[in-house]
Amino acid sequence: MAHAYLKPVQTGAAKSSLTPCILDDDPAQLEMLAELVSSMGYEPVLTSNPAEALKLVQYGRCRLVLADVHMPGMDGYQFLDQALHCDPGLHVIIMTGEYTLDSALEAVRRGATDFLPKPIDRARLKRTLDDVAALYDQRRRVRELEEQLLKDLEFHGIVGKSPVMLEVFDFARKVARHYTNVLLIGATGTGKELVARAIHQISPVSQQKLAVCNCSALVDTLLESQLFGHLRGSFTGATDTRPGLFEFANNGTVFLDEVGETSLPMQAKLLRVIQNREIQRVGSPEVRQINVRLIAATNRDLRAEVLAGRFREDLYYRLCSIQIRLPSLTERLEDIPLLVQFFLKKYNDAYGKTISGLTRRAQAVLLQHAWPGNVRELENVISSACITTGGDFIDLADLPEGLQHRGPRNADGDDWRPLSLEEMRKAHIHRILDMCQGNRLRAAQVLGIGRTSLYRYLKDGSEEKLKATKFGQATVSAPIVLS
Ligand SMILES: Nc1ncnc2c1ncn2[C@@H]1O[C@H](COP(=O)(O)OP(=O)(O)O)[C@@H](O)[C@H]1O
Ligand SMILES: [Mg+2]
Repeated sequence: MAHAYLKPVQTGAAKSSLTPCILDDDPAQLEMLAELVSSMGYEPVLTSNPAEALKLVQYGRCRLVLADVHMPGMDGYQFLDQALHCDPGLHVIIMTGEYTLDSALEAVRRGATDFLPKPIDRARLKRTLDDVAALYDQRRRVRELEEQLLKDLEFHGIVGKSPVMLEVFDFARKVARHYTNVLLIGATGTGKELVARAIHQISPVSQQKLAVCNCSALVDTLLESQLFGHLRGSFTGATDTRPGLFEFANNGTVFLDEVGETSLPMQAKLLRVIQNREIQRVGSPEVRQINVRLIAATNRDLRAEVLAGRFREDLYYRLCSIQIRLPSLTERLEDIPLLVQFFLKKYNDAYGKTISGLTRRAQAVLLQHAWPGNVRELENVISSACITTGGDFIDLADLPEGLQHRGPRNADGDDWRPLSLEEMRKAHIHRILDMCQGNRLRAAQVLGIGRTSLYRYLKDGSEEKLKATKFGQATVSAPIVLS
């Protein structure tokens, strides 16, 4: 049976996508080579400037370079080194008038695809170009298959192909039919909210409402009124009577995000909802019955919180009977290319761009990063790179400062400085704040500290240092950013 992907190579298509770059300082040679390469069905780009050829490589315009050895400014070998550093998958064919076996071996050892004596043998050059074109065509077809795979591997907008994520999808699918309470645990940015939405979508109550509440974003009184509703005049500012989210989503689902941040009194109220399925609006004696499914999420270790006396044990046991743990991004590095592809498509569409991918060195850097902000951080990196990049490919310079210096060449820490612990803490806090786009609440979550501590550290670093430390805890005056 004939499979689409087993069709013979479409040499025409392959040839047009190869775009060889011819680099030679001699205009007569350039012209002669251009004619030769064109006669083989390729459309070459010509340049006598090695820096310009490097740019073409960097932005993925040319997948193959025919480079002369003797050029002013940079010789063919230096060019080879730099070009391969930009794109280790690049094909470079070195041409020379002084062919020796030793120099040919040296070129191949340094990563050249071939080494051709001048004058160029037509048949030999054609064979090399056709081989490389066939290889690229094969890669293109693999990419097409991967795109198809991406569609198949999406689970309600959640992308993943790693065994740990496939397990999450499988378990979520199973529990969605039957649960009344589910607890999602995992670090910030691992996709807890996405999974909560997916569970609601698959559940038998998908036609009913889903109410989302971020428990850490509100002070207790506001949180209580948001969840349970209030009567007019029950507190200052309560100018009307309002139902809360539990009533709003009655017969549907309530998602309580960051449930580990709630106070003990609030936990008692949540326990009552779970145990008795009843609520009271703030200021009202009336008890109302509600019927909601509850999904709670936290990035804290709730068992440790129980031991520390910050979380009610009875509520913990009620919540954790069904738990889904979202793995951190570094536990599933194999998902990164797929996620990158997914976000590229999303932001290409959003910004009207046609970026085709990342240069290899940019890809390598993504695989080496520690990703404290997990998938959210990766999404931010790709979306801002989509804005800044001018070419078809996202390169190192389009990535945030903190990532750029993590390539293999800098693995030993070229930019290492003997910082004090205090300076290190300050730099780290600012880096995480940048990553969270200034959202202090998120930053505190990523850093694993309370909001108040974050404000204190920030204040410690500022000119208010003297004032802040003398009188115990600094007061929280900065605005809270809701997300
Ligand atoms: N597996 C995934 N596939 C696609 N997008 C994801 C995935 N995981 C997280 N995201 C995206 O990352 C961001 C953070 O996800 P979110 O569910 O809010 O994480 P959490 O609630 O765990 O902090 C969102 O923009 C979300 O769309
Ligand atoms: Mg969240």
